[in-house]
Amino acid sequence: MNWHKIFERHSMVLVAGILVAVSIGGIIEIAPLFYLESTIEEVEGVRPYTPLELAGRNIYVREGCYVCHSQMIRPLRDEVERYGHYSLAAESMYDHPFQWGSRRIGPDLARVGGKYSDDWHQDHMTDPRAVVPESIMPGYPFLGAREVRYDDIADHLFANRMVGVPYSDEMITAAMIDFRAQTNPDSDDYDAFLDRYPNAQVRDFDGDPERITELDALIAYLQVLGTMVDFDGYDVEENRR
Ligand code: HEC
Repeated sequence: MNWHKIFERHSMVLVAGILVAVSIGGIIEIAPLFYLESTIEEVEGVRPYTPLELAGRNIYVREGCYVCHSQMIRPLRDEVERYGHYSLAAESMYDHPFQWGSRRIGPDLARVGGKYSDDWHQDHMTDPRAVVPESIMPGYPFLGAREVRYDDIADHLFANRMVGVPYSDEMITAAMIDFRAQTNPDSDDYDAFLDRYPNAQVRDFDGDPERITELDALIAYLQVLGTMVDFDGYDVEENRR
């Protein structure tokens, strides 16, 4: 039983041996990912973002909100008690790039949708200290003053489709119409919009029905976060499809 001496006396042989041993584990873990169609369980209710929500999401990324806010509730008791049901992988399956984040200077936002009114968000985004006196979040008063640019929103949907978000041709063609329809419950496109994006929230989000501002888009995005899956009596097994 002296064969192992060869490993102990020749460092390169030892290195080669280590590489062989380590790659066996690596191959076993990595190889299945190449032939598995998906590693994410689809969950009832999760749909692609509407054009307006997507524009809001782009503003969220542009302003670097992820520097202070995460969007992933971990399955730990303190997190679940504070923020709600832990995040499911499917809830961020249409996020490109994902916004899980690693820094929490502010609270996690994965389930902030519906937690506050639009009015609260308007005040908070304009001047956080007006509603939370001890807040250290910067204000973003310009968002409500600036009309949101959306002439290229169809291209954003298309780009998302290229990385796997199931936007249909119809959704891409109607992107500009849907964008406006979501801020106006009286529009003729209301029904068609809701057919394309079930359960989407339709209203004026920024308190200024005359214009569609960046604040409209951002609040529409914040208000949908974590609301797509209905967690009342939620059962992971039953909701698989
Ligand atoms: C410098 C860090 C920082 C940045 C950047 C920042 N926030 Fe915050 N945010 C905070 C802190 C701290 C709080 C908690 C105090 C408060 O409510 O203002 C907070 C709270 C919030 C809340 C309320 C969350 C809750 O559950 O009470 C929302 C919504 C929010 N931020 C959205 C945003 C958005 C959208 C952006 C980007 C436009 C942003 N934040 C950028 C630090 C930040």
